[in-house]
Amino acid sequence: MKKLSDKVTFKHGAVINNRMVQPPMLTNSGLNGMVSEDTISYWKARANSAGLVISEYNYVSPAGGPALTWADNRTQLAVYDDKFLPGLTKMAKTMKSGGNKALLQIAHTGREANYRAHLGLPVYAPDSANYPFLPYGVQAFTTEQVEQVVKDFGAATKRAIEAGFNGVEIHGANHYLIQQFFSRFSNHRQDKWGDYEAFPLAVAKEVFEVVRKYAPQDFIIGYRISPEEINPDSVGYTWHESTKLIDNLTNNFDFDYIHLSLPDYKAKPDDSAKTFAELFRPVIGKDTKLIIVGDVMSQKTAEDALNYTDLVAAGRAQIIDANFAAKVVAGEGDKVITELSNEEEKEQALTPGLREVMDKQTKRPNLNFAKMLRGLDYSKAIKVK
Ligand SMILES: Cc1cc2nc3c(=O)[nH]c(=O)nc-3n(C[C@H](O)[C@H](O)[C@H](O)COP(=O)(O)O)c2cc1C
Repeated sequence: MKKLSDKVTFKHGAVINNRMVQPPMLTNSGLNGMVSEDTISYWKARANSAGLVISEYNYVSPAGGPALTWADNRTQLAVYDDKFLPGLTKMAKTMKSGGNKALLQIAHTGREANYRAHLGLPVYAPDSANYPFLPYGVQAFTTEQVEQVVKDFGAATKRAIEAGFNGVEIHGANHYLIQQFFSRFSNHRQDKWGDYEAFPLAVAKEVFEVVRKYAPQDFIIGYRISPEEINPDSVGYTWHESTKLIDNLTNNFDFDYIHLSLPDYKAKPDDSAKTFAELFRPVIGKDTKLIIVGDVMSQKTAEDALNYTDLVAAGRAQIIDANFAAKVVAGEGDKVITELSNEEEKEQALTPGLREVMDKQTKRPNLNFAKMLRGLDYSKAIKVK
């Protein structure tokens, strides 16, 4: 019988203290991409909770972000230059200080880099297009630029190693660049990057090469994916294609884990009676761990989620209560804080940026994407024909 309190050993030898994970979550605390004191306070409060803690998505190239950002002192964090290393080193040390293993999520936000558009800088994606849901235009990468971004993922991995993280998570989910390449909705390229699997596989190859060269043997490497991209009037891909991609990724590279980004840990596709977790588990191989996420808000749901997976991630619950994971691991689910008053927002060390995007009605962190995107002036944004 699996228990939340079990220690878990990853394929390359890293051991975590329990089966709970804090999934990557934007803290809106960067100062032009740099880690701030607010970032550090947020992590200090969460340093002794989940066994595995994953940072928010850090952008690997200058044009890779910031996304979901609305001010210079509220940006997404970055890892595209050595100048970010002192802050990231402090962040890694803080995240690990209670015995957790800490990972850096590495990402390129592609078309979603809204703050660059606001500044009048070019925003790139696999294809140039005016996406109706974005208040700015997007340009297509040249072939050389795509090759540079692949290298940027490797350089970001090297910085994660230097900063003292225990591993990296490749962000292949949630409509960001890797998913944009994998999706037939957003990738119509005519060069070799028009093969939907080419970019995710190239990024994985680059990251593994850097890890094998520079990282300790037990460095953790994970990959996060959204199992399906079903848009209001188009389909990017379904689980039939994403399981094939994961099969390819896990056959070619020794991933420690695969992380499914789900709205509900029990979610199922339209055409199967099985949950996504049940569909992906046999594909990834027995030595690679599976992480699932989505609406785990209590001891009961955390324990139930464990029936489907090796590791359970709880996101918003861990924002509301910085010690959510520690409490459910100890069987103290009755002590979990489920609603945040203004006073508790401070006690749980929410960053000022996170406090600004709290939904005041539900008293839960609820990223208001439309508001964060549209609240900016895009008059300087570059138009695309
Ligand atoms: C405030 C906030 C920020 C997020 N930022 C990221 C991110 O940086 N990278 C990522 O892969 N997912 C991000 N997510 C998605 C979460 O990792 C998670 O998948 C989602 O919140 C569902 O889990 P939950 O129901 O436990 O909150 C974010 C979610 C929230 C609420």
